[in-house]
Amino acid sequence: MRLGAKVRWRDIEDDARLQTAHPLLRAAVAHVAHYQIRNRGTVGGSLAHADPAAELPGVAVTCDAEIIVVGAVGARTIPAAEFFTGSLTTVLRSDELVTELRLPFWPADRRWAFREFARRQGDFALAGVALYYDEDARGRARDPHVAVIGACSRPHRLPSVETVLAGQVVDEPTLRAAAEKAGGGRSAGRSACLRHLPPRPHLDPGRARLAGGGANRERLMRIGFEINGRPAEVEVEPRTSLADCLRDQLRLTGTHIGCEHGVCGACTVIVDAAAVRSCLMLAVQAEGSSIATVEGLSRDDGLTPLQTAFKKHHALQCGFCTPGMLTTAHALLSEEPDADRIRSVLSGNLCRCTGYIPIVEAVLEARAAYRKADKP
Ligand code: FES
Ligand code: FES
Repeated sequence: MRLGAKVRWRDIEDDARLQTAHPLLRAAVAHVAHYQIRNRGTVGGSLAHADPAAELPGVAVTCDAEIIVVGAVGARTIPAAEFFTGSLTTVLRSDELVTELRLPFWPADRRWAFREFARRQGDFALAGVALYYDEDARGRARDPHVAVIGACSRPHRLPSVETVLAGQVVDEPTLRAAAEKAGGGRSAGRSACLRHLPPRPHLDPGRARLAGGGANRERLMRIGFEINGRPAEVEVEPRTSLADCLRDQLRLTGTHIGCEHGVCGACTVIVDAAAVRSCLMLAVQAEGSSIATVEGLSRDDGLTPLQTAFKKHHALQCGFCTPGMLTTAHALLSEEPDADRIRSVLSGNLCRCTGYIPIVEAVLEARAAYRKADKP
């Protein structure tokens, strides 16, 4: 199976064919960050970023995938096990881009599992494991593949565990033996990993000056997009986030900024009908898009049914998280979600004072209005 670098997590989640074509991949993608991030994150981005706890690199290593990269002197095909060299580092050269991930054929009756452990839903995994094996005619594991993420500076296979599973019926005693083998070398493995962790980064004085300085006019780019139904043109530096552009240049301060690294959801806006974290998106990436912020949810001066439901159910106190809650829920309600889906998606938006029960109740009540009309 070939996945282009620009395939988004959302594409994988929405493609029902992958349930049989590659269920391990689909299960792993369900763990990737939050709803808004899955709307934007891509296959190529995850591979090139090479976070040791990321799901896709783990699946790629488990499955002996190949990564296609293209540079100034041509293309290279790199086995996934050789692509990741350490924490956030790969064999990519400075002139190369990831263009494709190739996953080997997945037999329909293959046995598999993907588990990860995180402090909260959507957080980066503390550790995770992906595995699969085929069964022979007597139900014994053939060619088991087992890999871990988050346990070292890069995803890696566990040959000693695979050896325990190979040729065995995978029952409770076999799994215990495999788990002991995985845990037995933990101290030595951890020491080896720590030796490979990168040193604490130093602040580069050149970059610090750039970050602290004002806009460099020679670097400004003019971009255009539609914002809340109206055309807008702005001049931004290439590094300006969409959140900063909306707040500082368009004065749409309803979009809040909390963490600035994709965790809290306060900055959620809707770009081309998909909820996204505007702190993680560059303004220049919005060129030609249609953007809706919390200011654009209402067509007139009144409250929308969603906003009315928030008021009725006391779904806000300080209100800091509320714009992100509203924009996220507004985009989500186009799917006719059930209560579990609403809880799962809103778990990616942090509220520190109201509590989630009234917020979920408000979104549930607003569902009826979204069914009746297009969008309020
Ligand atoms: Fe963007 Fe927190 S997710 S500010
Ligand atoms: Fe205060 Fe959610 S209403 S953080």
